Amino acid sequence: MSAKPANDVMEKIVSLCKRRGYVFPSSEIYGGLGSCWDYGPLGAELKRNIKTFWWDAMTNRRDDIEGLDAAILMHPQVWVTSGHVANFTDPMVDCKKCKARFRADKLEEARCPLKPSKSPLECGGELTEARKFNLMFKTFMGPVEDESATVYMRPETAQGIYVNFLNVKNSSRQKIPFGIAQIGKAFRNEITPGNFIFRTREFEQMEMQFFIHPSEDDKWFEYWREQRWQWYESLGIRMSKLRWHQHGEGELAHYAKAAFDIEYEYPFGWHELEGIHNRTDFDLGRHMDATKKDLRYFDERFPEKFVPYIIETSAGCDRTLLTTLVDAYDEIEVKGEQRVFLRLSPKISPIKAAIFPLVNKEGMPEYAEKVYHDLKRKFKVFYDDSGAVGRRYARMDEAGCPFCITIDGQTLQDQTMTVRDRDTMEQSRMTFAQIVDFLDTKVNG
Ligand code: GAP
Repeated sequence: MSAKPANDVMEKIVSLCKRRGYVFPSSEIYGGLGSCWDYGPLGAELKRNIKTFWWDAMTNRRDDIEGLDAAILMHPQVWVTSGHVANFTDPMVDCKKCKARFRADKLEEARCPLKPSKSPLECGGELTEARKFNLMFKTFMGPVEDESATVYMRPETAQGIYVNFLNVKNSSRQKIPFGIAQIGKAFRNEITPGNFIFRTREFEQMEMQFFIHPSEDDKWFEYWREQRWQWYESLGIRMSKLRWHQHGEGELAHYAKAAFDIEYEYPFGWHELEGIHNRTDFDLGRHMDATKKDLRYFDERFPEKFVPYIIETSAGCDRTLLTTLVDAYDEIEVKGEQRVFLRLSPKISPIKAAIFPLVNKEGMPEYAEKVYHDLKRKFKVFYDDSGAVGRRYARMDEAGCPFCITIDGQTLQDQTMTVRDRDTMEQSRMTFAQIVDFLDTKVNG
């Protein structure tokens, strides 16, 4: 795909998100804040649905994974022990001419602010030597702002899981192999955030750490690669747009023995959507050394105590949301008009069905309102009685709503309503009970 159409698609998605209430620039009435975004009514619902879909797959539908919700602020020593204070850095360069900062390892992708058609390698500006820039945000705890009061905004949710390994194991009485899952905010002072909500400084992660015997790491690594791949399939993502990327020696994070990314083909190229890492006993081993707490595992099935190995699955929630939007975005011509369709899976779409009276008379609005209120108890639905029914369909197609239910003259005779499918545009007649079953199957699988 050439650069121009790719940018076009992203611009259209950003504009659709604003128009339909998915994502707004943060603090917009103050001119916005770089790379910070707010989720509007539909975006908040979509994000919640994605998190629930992940949480169900990773915890509720399994017996071997427990949930956790750890604090964002942790003991500062955690980040020294984990290696983040020393190693969680990106190489950074400054342009001596325009003073812009760039990641030294991503110069080809970067744009010069003065000559946006050129990269910092081509624009003629002189770059400084690369130096290390730590990505962790710092703040102060308590009223004194000095070095001893420094705390970090967590750059990954994983450490909250490691320091709670014993608490969760003992309280849940889980035996190895078992996992701990967590969804929560993470913060990174990225040098070059961008591409809408793809890379931001505040974001949410959906992470799971699976604790295993060291001799079984390859087996569980393969197992979790397979599980996570299938999760995107069940989310309705086009599999032709996904691929694996294996980290080479120089690419591996400081804690990883092996790592694979699931990449998606965004309009701006192939990029990481989720990482699956074999973190070995690096994290528990370091926390054990630092705290002198015995984090080794023992039960009668194993000959001796051991520090568990960890297989980690780490997905970005905002990035998954962007992926669902990009994947679902479609434009086609309908009856001579260029129309936008957001083909989100009913499992995660913010609105599951819209209810319309065909006309605002002859008892149809009263019937439609009753259907709306009865369906609302089970599903997120939307009532719309304004404008021609064709325009109402178009609004719902663009908002990502998969089904529209219309109450017409025949409804009052035989209690059936038309259910129109966004993707096939076909309509079928169903009774209320049939609609409830139909939506239940589509939404809950
Ligand atoms: N605990 C391991 C870890 O954090 P990572 O590959 O650095 O690994 C995992 O991050 C996922 O978090 C990424 O695949 C991405 O989806 C998301 N992510 C990371 N940095 C991000 C950022 N600046 N903005 C949005 N999402 C981000």
